[in-house]
Amino acid sequence: MDHEYFYSIMNGEGTLDYEIYLNTKTLLSCQKDFKDFCNRDELQFQVVHQVEEMWMKLIGYTLLDIDDHLQQENTQRVITLFHRVHIALRLMTEQLALLETMSPKEYQEIRLQLGNGSGQESPGFRSLLKMHPHIWHSFKSCYLEKKSLTVEQIYNSQYSHSEAYVVAEALMEYDELFQRFRFVHLQLIHRSIGLGAQSLKGRPVELLNEGLRARFFPELWDIRHQMTDSWGAQYGRVRDSIGGH
Ligand code: HEM
Repeated sequence: MDHEYFYSIMNGEGTLDYEIYLNTKTLLSCQKDFKDFCNRDELQFQVVHQVEEMWMKLIGYTLLDIDDHLQQENTQRVITLFHRVHIALRLMTEQLALLETMSPKEYQEIRLQLGNGSGQESPGFRSLLKMHPHIWHSFKSCYLEKKSLTVEQIYNSQYSHSEAYVVAEALMEYDELFQRFRFVHLQLIHRSIGLGAQSLKGRPVELLNEGLRARFFPELWDIRHQMTDSWGAQYGRVRDSIGGH
């Protein structure tokens, strides 16, 4: 195939209504010119990162909406919008696999193009890291304190699969999926540059392990082991066999 010919038509003219509404002219010029790529994998590298930024923009925008609906106790909206956030986070995690089709050597060539850039500078990621305390505050004040409920009650002593419980589980799902993204991203790093490496800022890559331990909603995680401890207490630390031996 004639590469030059297809390169010249791939970005379109930008004049049709579809192109105008979606601003494809600008969108498709957000990647380097084909002639400037350092190798044939660099377009994928840029596209995956850019798409990830778009998903994070959507997630952040949706979380602002969710926060408003939490304050109005509009539970059905909260659940539907969290469903959207969960799908977008799963997409973010799944598409990391695209970058595993790039060989370690090709990535080293791309890495030389990145200056001292770091994923920690991602505007989407940095915004998301600031939003969860607000979500927690709205949930706690409108679904717990206002109704004189505690996390323990909605999960255990007054468990009724209530609205507060269902919303809490949507928060949990968000937290778990966010951690999963971080975990899969670490596996991607392991596979492409190795965990013993230094980041482009000179930091040990292993520092990312700290992020893996971060929890957005620790009270929702803690209730699980608190219940296990209190339910298990009636049997003591080691249980008798149910077979009587
Ligand atoms: C081959 C592909 C990739 C490699 C080798 C890689 C490598 C790294 C490294 C070494 C760091 C640590 C940076 C530091 O300490 O300053 C990092 C952080 C990060 N990267 Fe990537 N990355 C890759 C792909 C991606 C993609 C596609 C995204 C999409 C969002 C991404 C998002 C991030 C984020 C958000 C952080 C900060 C993570 C945190 O603080 O927990 N990375 N990446």
